[in-house]
Amino acid sequence: MKNLEFKSRRNKLAKTIGKSGVAIIATADLSTRTNDTYYPFRSNSDFYYFTGFLEPNALMVLAPGRPEGEFILCVRPKNPLMETWEGHMEGLNGVINNYNADQSFDIADIDSILKDLLHGRERVFYSIGKHKIYDDKVTEAFKTLRESQRQGGVVPNEIVSVDTIIHDMRQIKSRKEIQLMKEAARIGVEAHLRVMNECKPSVYEYQIEASINHQFGQYGTVPSYNSIVASGDNACTLHYVENQSMMKQGDLLLTDAGCEYQMYASDITRTIPVSGQFTKEQKAIYSIVLEAQKSVISSVKPGQTFEKMQKNCIEIITRGLKKLGILKGSVSKLIKEESYKDFYMHGIGHWLGIDVHDVGSYVNEKGKSKPFAPGMVITVEPGIYISKKTKTIDKKWKGIGIRIEDDVLVTPSGCEVLSGDLPKEIDAIEAMMSSN
Ligand code: GLY
Ligand code: MN
Ligand code: MN
Repeated sequence: MKNLEFKSRRNKLAKTIGKSGVAIIATADLSTRTNDTYYPFRSNSDFYYFTGFLEPNALMVLAPGRPEGEFILCVRPKNPLMETWEGHMEGLNGVINNYNADQSFDIADIDSILKDLLHGRERVFYSIGKHKIYDDKVTEAFKTLRESQRQGGVVPNEIVSVDTIIHDMRQIKSRKEIQLMKEAARIGVEAHLRVMNECKPSVYEYQIEASINHQFGQYGTVPSYNSIVASGDNACTLHYVENQSMMKQGDLLLTDAGCEYQMYASDITRTIPVSGQFTKEQKAIYSIVLEAQKSVISSVKPGQTFEKMQKNCIEIITRGLKKLGILKGSVSKLIKEESYKDFYMHGIGHWLGIDVHDVGSYVNEKGKSKPFAPGMVITVEPGIYISKKTKTIDKKWKGIGIRIEDDVLVTPSGCEVLSGDLPKEIDAIEAMMSSN
């Protein structure tokens, strides 16, 4: 991503908050894994969106119209000893030269810096409740300035959440963001193709996960969430991430895995037969999920909503399960009583972007499901899960868990399936696996 794009995002934010406002956005902290070792660092997505800066312990202040410069980065100063251990640090000059900061400060001095930068502003745009340390610092600066107001001058009189403004911006992807998401999807597709090639009885789920990670690693990417590699009944645990079981002949394998490429996520699911051939019952359930997924994807265009897509999906799934005798009664009654929820208990999809479950409201100002617009990216992921624990159901259906998930860009005329190169038709999957 070019510095120019980060700058135009900051300009847009500056315009929205105006010269009487000041925005504060902090990045994430390092998180301890064991004793003195850490999980790999991942920047806060909002902070990244406006800065492109990937070091921990940093904070951005945007003060529109400030004579000394409106984009201020507070970061760790360069420390040669620390760099010996931890690697390159940009330091105060680095963020000016390489990240277009107008001014930079040592993050250790944040208390006094915040007081200076908030002084003369009426509104502080800051999202409280996400970062305790900065919550305390921002409210302390706010309180101290309010107390000093008796001496005259302009001091802040409100702290306004900046989430909605930022997240509305992030919901519409730019041309460059779409390019990155296409690449994230392409790499995700490659990893799933590899799963189709390597899936066979007696292989362990964690071995499949290792192949996925290896494939992601070929492009310098990491998983955008914990990969779900769930064979047999494990697929009926929606967030199964143990990935410890051995795959068995006759079972299905549900793989939900996507990568994060230059901070942008893909999120893809395929369900394939471990032995390479679907059984009759697996085919029957798979066909319903596939019909629902294809029908919903074909409806994606500007103006479409998650609510309408979910309704369509529920109808197809309920009808399909009734036809197989798994649900009994009239379709309208089954839908009204939400009987399908025993087998399809999640949403049809979500926004996708820098976060896998990307930010942005699901409703508009009227509280209605938000209509899609060009540049939005969503997932479409219907599923049917018939756990072994399900009572009053014929044994032949038990242990079948199926989800099919693709990443879909809303375009001016309809949509584009970013993960569309990955087979999902029964014949295509079987043909592919038979060549293993
Ligand atoms: N992988 C998480 C999801 O599909 O939402
Ligand atoms: Mn998803
Ligand atoms: Mn997923």
